[in-house]
Amino acid sequence: MTDLSQPTLPGALPDKRQVAASFSRAAASYDSVAALQRAVGVALLEKLPAQLAPTRWLDLGSGTGHFSRVLAERFAGAHGVAVDIAEGMLRHAREQGGAQHHLAGDAERLPLRDGSVDLLFSSLAVQWCDQFASVLGEARRVLRPGGVLAFSSLCVGTLDELRASWQAVDGRVHVNRFRRFEDYQRLCGDSGLALLELERRAHVLHYPDVRSLTHELKALGAHNLNPGRPTGLTGRARMHGLLQAYEQFRQPQGLPATYQVVYGVLRKPMAQGL
Ligand SMILES: C[S@@+](CC[C@H](N)C(=O)[O-])C[C@H]1O[C@@H](n2cnc3c(N)ncnc32)[C@H](O)[C@@H]1O
Repeated sequence: MTDLSQPTLPGALPDKRQVAASFSRAAASYDSVAALQRAVGVALLEKLPAQLAPTRWLDLGSGTGHFSRVLAERFAGAHGVAVDIAEGMLRHAREQGGAQHHLAGDAERLPLRDGSVDLLFSSLAVQWCDQFASVLGEARRVLRPGGVLAFSSLCVGTLDELRASWQAVDGRVHVNRFRRFEDYQRLCGDSGLALLELERRAHVLHYPDVRSLTHELKALGAHNLNPGRPTGLTGRARMHGLLQAYEQFRQPQGLPATYQVVYGVLRKPMAQGL
């Protein structure tokens, strides 16, 4: 996630146990503040190949299960599996139906058999994975030949207004880091999956003030978890500095927060080596 002083990722993403704990804590509040996540998931669904009729789908990083329920409705009769690293999210999702199975698991080591799903859908989860190549390798392993991976993620440029405002205050890492779009291009190109579509689209949200944005990030479980983040409460003077610095970005609609969203659709070749 973004820290322009360290554009490469190895070792830079938060500990997965912290990610899981943070999302588990956010399970109850997530849906009330997930407008962007809804819009992105809907846009990703629109990119699925028209003829796709999976008998088994996987919702990876399923969160509260909103898109598991959408997939269950769209592919009625198919078998759905939801995987998430956060037990709290899985509990929340399980109560509301959608997938037949809810499994705790990591996108970089999927708890599924080889060639066992026809559709792997993953919206706004894999930005939390250090090794996107491992995610793609796992997708290739669990997809049946001809199966489709559809993912959305975030890349560099996301929350840059917040990052730049903090930079002006203390130069510390306050905003999650993101991979570059070019890295998504390269890794998808090297994945052994056929690339049907890969695009980056900016979504800009507006807030009346900075606190509305930071409270929302916390309610989503997506606030700053980076190693090197400042700990403890934010002092009054630094918070004042942040609010002032962010004002330079103000637009008539409010304070902008830009999300650079990556959308990718890939297909596992029908025969090895193709
Ligand atoms: C922003 S939420 C998105 C939830 C859902 N896909 C949606 O669009 O509403 C990200 C989810 O990814 C999960 N996640 C993060 N890292 C993961 C990993 N390595 N493996 C599986 N799930 C992960 C989090 O626990 C969280 O539930």
